Amino acid sequence: MKLSHKALRQKYADHLIAHKHVEAPPISLVPQDDPTTLFTGSGMQQFVPYLLGKAHPLGTRLFNIQPCIRVQDIEEVGDNRHDTFFEMMGNWSLGDYFKKEQLSWFFAFLTDTKIGLGLEPERLYVTVFQGDEHIPKDAESIAIWQELFSQAGVEPTLGERIVTYDATKNWWSRAGVPDQMPAGEPGGPDSEVFYRFDLDHDPAFGTKCHPNCDCGRFLEIGNSVFMQYKKNEQGAFDELPKKNVDFGGGLERLLSAGNNEPDMFKTDVFTPVVSVVENAVKQEYHSSDQKPAMRIIADHIKTATFIIKTGVTPSNKEQGYVLRRLLRRAMVKIRTLNTSFSTKEIEPIVKEVVHTYDGIYFEAQKDSTHIIDVVGNEVERFKKTLEKGMREIEKRDVIDGKGAFDLYQSYGFPFEITQEIVAERGQDISEEEFEQAKTHHQEVSRTSAKNKFRGGLADHAEQTIKYHTATHLIHQALFDVVGEVRQEGSNITAQRLRFDFYTERKPTDDDIKTVEKTVNHKITEALPVRMQVMDKQEAMAAGARAFFKEKYPEKVNVYYIGDEDVKKAYSKELCGGPHVKNTKEIGSIKIVKLKKIGSNMYRLYAE
Ligand code: ALA
Repeated sequence: MKLSHKALRQKYADHLIAHKHVEAPPISLVPQDDPTTLFTGSGMQQFVPYLLGKAHPLGTRLFNIQPCIRVQDIEEVGDNRHDTFFEMMGNWSLGDYFKKEQLSWFFAFLTDTKIGLGLEPERLYVTVFQGDEHIPKDAESIAIWQELFSQAGVEPTLGERIVTYDATKNWWSRAGVPDQMPAGEPGGPDSEVFYRFDLDHDPAFGTKCHPNCDCGRFLEIGNSVFMQYKKNEQGAFDELPKKNVDFGGGLERLLSAGNNEPDMFKTDVFTPVVSVVENAVKQEYHSSDQKPAMRIIADHIKTATFIIKTGVTPSNKEQGYVLRRLLRRAMVKIRTLNTSFSTKEIEPIVKEVVHTYDGIYFEAQKDSTHIIDVVGNEVERFKKTLEKGMREIEKRDVIDGKGAFDLYQSYGFPFEITQEIVAERGQDISEEEFEQAKTHHQEVSRTSAKNKFRGGLADHAEQTIKYHTATHLIHQALFDVVGEVRQEGSNITAQRLRFDFYTERKPTDDDIKTVEKTVNHKITEALPVRMQVMDKQEAMAAGARAFFKEKYPEKVNVYYIGDEDVKKAYSKELCGGPHVKNTKEIGSIKIVKLKKIGSNMYRLYAE
């Protein structure tokens, strides 16, 4: 019987609840108040302060399924197992259980026929950290795996069933290998589990196949990170106060393994979408030699649909640029397979994505119209210039960086798309020249966004923390001055804060001056900033502000400013922090701009 994604979700939850885990709701795909990363890229992102030692309001055993986007994987999409949007099934021990429980429970989840997926133990292979000059070899995990495989009747041969690798494969931190980690960042050795499909090894990937071989025979289906270390200022590693587990397994990949289906695009998180892509490009997937292009179309439109759901629209910077790039790349692919394309081909793909996740991430009735509108606008915009741009490319023998910029400027061709098209002719474009041409013309550079694709590190730099607390003060001051406002979003960089809100009454220039004065007054009053864990209901009853688009757990952190009694405090908000300890640390703020961004919607910038 086929394993459906809905059944897999349920099994995972049941399994962890049986081991006394509490569900901590996933965070938004576009993280709030974190200027260093465009999208949430792993389940652990929201738990960093807790992995470093802070107490989590929901306890020490947590789990969830976190929607993630890894734009840096965009080039990999096209094979049987990479996608830009994925869901990470995660569980965490915050100083509670450690290696023995984590590895045994995950192995049981994979192999048990009743509570788990019933995978054949014979098909599972594991990798373990081999040790380096900082951290010793993970002999403990090796011993645990030896026992687990032996009990399951599988010979635990070292170097075959249990393989050790260096930090490039078996160490995890948000920044990658130990050398790349900034001081203060948590990380640790990890142990990955791989599933073996009945495929022959492809010698193009090396003489011998092994778990980390990229030929497609092995699929990584789960990673248990033993978050036990923090890098210090000297570049050495200190033990964290508690030994944590950070586990993440891709839902789509576990689904592939659960169905013994090496092609992720043939599992039910993709099949309905792929079948409408077949209509759009007039080809059958199973017999097509254009599978990579069809996978790219399905993946990119799916990811775009999820991004639009968060409120982002196509633009030339940050998340909006990623969205534009995904949609336009999908359109170029559709055009190469089917000479014409229009909203007519793309609309059903979007609808099918929404349908696939209806009730999980979307409400089909409510969401489809808006998402289709946004996609439709972008299709119409790009369609007009795509033909002209393609002809322009075909006309020219060589396209240099400046030429790529002209195409970007006149036809809206994202640089990466031009690069890809000319790469098919065996040519290369200088990105540097493109960037130079662009900086001359544009103030907003894509580079900053691009660096962030690689990043993912929460920047807890002093300035962003100050802006974060200032945002809370502005939020409350708006209530004082303008009346009922509803936070629609916020965003902080090292240079400024941005706050989006909805209000019935248009704020006047005087209102904004009064807001600024109120906030600066609160800063000079040197008010303490405190945090208290509360029941969600209790916090709301005390008048704590919340961000209505976010789902909050039953127990929440409430940051409050002013009075010692949270009920009497000047500002109180449900929030993960971090914040300054006292408002005087902020210095002063200046509201530099207020603009209307929609009906009754405003955006304010302050420095
Ligand atoms: N945080 C770990 C990962 O992303 C589990 O692989």
